[in-house]
Amino acid sequence: MKPKWISIPSTLSNGEMEILEIIKTRRSIRRFRGEDVSEEDLMKILEAAIWAPSAGNRQPWEFIIVKDKHLKEKIAEAAYNQKWMTTAPVIIVICADEMRSASRYGERGRSLYCIQDTAAATQNILLAAHALNYGACWVGAFDENRVKEILGIPRNVRPVALIPIGRADEHPKPPSRIPLEKLIHRDGY
Ligand SMILES: Cc1cc2nc3c(=O)[nH]c(=O)nc-3n(C[C@H](O)[C@H](O)[C@H](O)COP(=O)(O)O)c2cc1C
Repeated sequence: MKPKWISIPSTLSNGEMEILEIIKTRRSIRRFRGEDVSEEDLMKILEAAIWAPSAGNRQPWEFIIVKDKHLKEKIAEAAYNQKWMTTAPVIIVICADEMRSASRYGERGRSLYCIQDTAAATQNILLAAHALNYGACWVGAFDENRVKEILGIPRNVRPVALIPIGRADEHPKPPSRIPLEKLIHRDGY
């Protein structure tokens, strides 16, 4: 059944196709209008994040909602001066609690599962934001220690992605993709 909050217009009536439409029409947005993201929508977006799969259902994610102008400026600086980030009304900082995964899965949990789990949550955030007609961008280029310092993130917790979200003020063309046929291997690499 189609969740009530998935409201982007789609010419397709089949529920299965709508999610594919959302996946394909999502773009990285790097310019935003001033309009805020309502608390209700923010919670819908984060609710989508926690329904991502995670190894052993450890759910190693934590989310920091940043709206303070000064903090956003400091985070954009820590992201190697990606100043465009400050045009977003909110930046969600996705963190991975390494110990939550490592306590069950050891080194593989610490170095792989908690990163994969939070990446899945990040993609859910991008898709949910798009479904609610917001623009967003996955920002991975930043000084991790600096972001930890700015936001008081504890020792075993890694900030893994920054996601500025807001109403899009640009409509970028889809960047090209490597053709699928060049990427598929059958019955071996
Ligand atoms: C792990 C990761 C890190 C990224 N880091 C940045 C970044 O620091 N700054 C940025 O502007 N875009 C960043 N992006 C967005 C990519 O540039 C973008 O996804 C890619 O060009 C494809 O465009 P699309 O998202 O519109 O399909 C990142 C994406 C991923 C998945």
